Amino acid sequence: MGLPWYVGYFEGKHWLTNIDYTQEDIRKVIEAALDLKRKFRSRVPTPYLKGKTLFMLFYNRSLRTRNSFEAGMFQLGGHAHFLSPNDVYTPTLPEDMEPYKTEAIRDVARVLSRYGDGIAIRIYGDAAKWHIGRGHRVIEEFAKWAEIPVLNMEDDVYHPFQALADIMAVLEVMPKIQGKKFVVSYAYSGGLKPLAVPQSVTLIAAMFGAEVVLAHPPGFELQDHIIQKAKELADQYGGSFTITNNMEEAFEGAAVVYPKAWSPKGFFPPYNSSVDKEGAKEYQKKFKDWIVTMDLLEKSGKPYYMHCGPADRGQEVTDEVLDSYEKSLYFQEAENRLHVQKAVMAMVMGSRFQEF
Ligand code: CP
Repeated sequence: MGLPWYVGYFEGKHWLTNIDYTQEDIRKVIEAALDLKRKFRSRVPTPYLKGKTLFMLFYNRSLRTRNSFEAGMFQLGGHAHFLSPNDVYTPTLPEDMEPYKTEAIRDVARVLSRYGDGIAIRIYGDAAKWHIGRGHRVIEEFAKWAEIPVLNMEDDVYHPFQALADIMAVLEVMPKIQGKKFVVSYAYSGGLKPLAVPQSVTLIAAMFGAEVVLAHPPGFELQDHIIQKAKELADQYGGSFTITNNMEEAFEGAAVVYPKAWSPKGFFPPYNSSVDKEGAKEYQKKFKDWIVTMDLLEKSGKPYYMHCGPADRGQEVTDEVLDSYEKSLYFQEAENRLHVQKAVMAMVMGSRFQEF
């Protein structure tokens, strides 16, 4: 049995954000993921990472990410090892070190590099002290020191594997995205969610030449460097990028809508001198009418509905939409997490010269 073309295709590279790659690279990932999805469904063995280990360090909880990475490594013939930051000396940036309680990321990264073949990390919110960008710094620090690929399982700036699964789901139902109206919208939640998903989805939609519309109430702006990059990608790939404060107007005539909650960044450093979680939650309450209903989707012309999960029922979206809207991609997005992650792991952790 020969190795498929994608094993080792990006051998040794990190996957911290999709904008380190091109649209052509992402299309290769999707092609590999589609192959792995077909093989998974027909139970064709895919032991392309036989004997290899992925260390998964979760500073935050997870359903989809943890289980899809863990199942994915098993299906590729390898092993996924779960690490809670409280069960090891917590891997920490230099300014937060505490003797015999924490360990420098630069040391953790080099130790794990001697035991296995990849390190995957999730860190945002409380774990990153709500200082937006700190979670991403943690992952960059791992990438700087690790001698094996580092994978970003979501930080406070990017969620690359979510965006890969999402674009795969869109391409499966709509092979040409260029020129189609793709709305990334705020939706209300009582919780505080990171900016990672709307930022990564906005970027990947721009990278595929969509007419991207970002909709949110005042105060929910994405980070400036993300907006700048979205504009550049829209220019580069023949799409467009606009921002509105009106959800209904944004939805009108859309091919795809991706409404989900994120936090108003002005309540957190570096956009504020202190962390004000209660203030942010109180401010969010003004926008409870940013909810996706069947009526709104029907009035808008029945776009595809997307959400990374977990969706807050009765806040971000109604039960009716999640349970019975015929153009919902909610479960397909979750399903595709498994396949895009297997694709990237085979590409970066696999070797073109290995035997299996
Ligand atoms: N979408 C996503 O990352 O889900 P989990 O938080 O369940 O991993």
